[in-house]
Amino acid sequence: MGKVWALGFACWLLVSPLVLAQSLPGPPECKADTMKKIAFGVGSSAAQSEGAAAVGGRSPSVWDVFAKQPGKIQDGSSPAVATDFFNKYKQDIALMKSMGVKNFRMSISWSRLLPQAVKGSSPSSDGVKFYRAVFKELKDNGIEPAVTLYHWDMPQVLQDKYQGFIDRQIIEDFTYYADVAFKTFGDQVKKWTTFNEPWVTCNLQYGNGDFAPGVQYGDSGKWKCGHNLLLAHANAVRLFRQKYNSDKKGRIGMALWSEWSEPWTDKFEDKRAAQNKIDIDFGWFADAIHFGDYPAQAKKTQSAFLPVFTEEEKKLLRRSYDYMGLTIYTAKFASEVPGNPNGWWVRTTDVNGKVVGQQAESYWLYNVPWSINRMLTYMKNRYDNPYIWVLENGISEKGEGNRVGMGPDTLRDPLRTDYFRGYISEACKAVESNGVRLTHYFAWSFTDNWEWREGFKTRFGVVRIDFANPQLPRGIKDSGRWLSEHVFKKSGQTKQ
Ligand code: GAL
Repeated sequence: MGKVWALGFACWLLVSPLVLAQSLPGPPECKADTMKKIAFGVGSSAAQSEGAAAVGGRSPSVWDVFAKQPGKIQDGSSPAVATDFFNKYKQDIALMKSMGVKNFRMSISWSRLLPQAVKGSSPSSDGVKFYRAVFKELKDNGIEPAVTLYHWDMPQVLQDKYQGFIDRQIIEDFTYYADVAFKTFGDQVKKWTTFNEPWVTCNLQYGNGDFAPGVQYGDSGKWKCGHNLLLAHANAVRLFRQKYNSDKKGRIGMALWSEWSEPWTDKFEDKRAAQNKIDIDFGWFADAIHFGDYPAQAKKTQSAFLPVFTEEEKKLLRRSYDYMGLTIYTAKFASEVPGNPNGWWVRTTDVNGKVVGQQAESYWLYNVPWSINRMLTYMKNRYDNPYIWVLENGISEKGEGNRVGMGPDTLRDPLRTDYFRGYISEACKAVESNGVRLTHYFAWSFTDNWEWREGFKTRFGVVRIDFANPQLPRGIKDSGRWLSEHVFKKSGQTKQ
């Protein structure tokens, strides 16, 4: 009997990885050819991963300072160590390689590269050394970087000096920073993003003060911030094109946040409400970098605060991108607020009271696969069929932040796996049926990381990190295994 048991156990050991693998859903509904047209990868950002906040002369970013104020970060944590990518990048890159990842989106910390941040200041040799080493390690492992210059981590010195994006001086200082980055890393990096989600920067960092630096400049600050940021973007793009990209091998764009807005009913008013929300949230930046000006709706309803571009600035802004970057997570319904034709009301349930999709850990996030298809198709139609890079897409699984240790159960994330399968299938449909030119897709995020105000509580990683263990061990979640097998290993490698 003992022998039979032992034999049975041995067989189980042999087949269990297969059983586990089979428990994952099948591949996304994509043609092999479509998968090859898209460069798939994973993403992260400097403030959320690097740590080593004071190493090598790095000066604080607004998040380092903000996190020290009591009550600002939900679990009282700070980005001082984060995922310790600064020290663990070799290990992380080896892990990416083992998963078949060939594209990695990351960001540079402005205050690590240029501790004094202002125009004319000297790059830190330690900062340069660190990023060059990371890019080399990526290359040696067959992984191409896509690098964002600003992922919300304003150097505190610029905040103190002139309130960051509120002052036009940011245009010159950012363009100088971009110049240093292009010059220093241009031989290693071909794919650039100027700004991550200006909507968040201007609404939460400089509008309502929810995010670092925690200042409240209200509506006037919000629109001013967007204006200065757009001009900083356009100047950096012009510089890149004139000075660094004569061989046209590089690509540059901006990462624009949007959730899809679905009209609540077929009524004209609800359709108008949904369109107004897209115009104000997405068109604010997308229209500016494509057409060279703000959407009519913004001009009409925000005239009290919305600054005006000169003709020269409009020219500079027009088509100031090679690809249109999108970060998309979810969709909501929009209906018109009675008596206010320019407003909208966001709803998470349809007319029958049915919720738009399964809710994530993050209160704002629901699993709505069709949202990505509608958003991509909308962009194709409005912006003359641009190349589109999905720079972020992902979900936080409920309760992951409370899991203990690294046992197999801590790596189960069925919602996230289902989410990626659904969204990638819908993205493929947009390409195959609607002719969208989607050429890059980065799953957010590579590892669990420091999720801004939510600290380590909310997790987005396809790789788990046990933050309670000082070694910060990593473990691939089910979603990571699914992406590895069905997406990363089937991915193409494109320049467009
Ligand atoms: C994005 C942001 C990322 C990440 C993600 C999940 O808006 O760019 O840094 O935090 O949301 O909340």
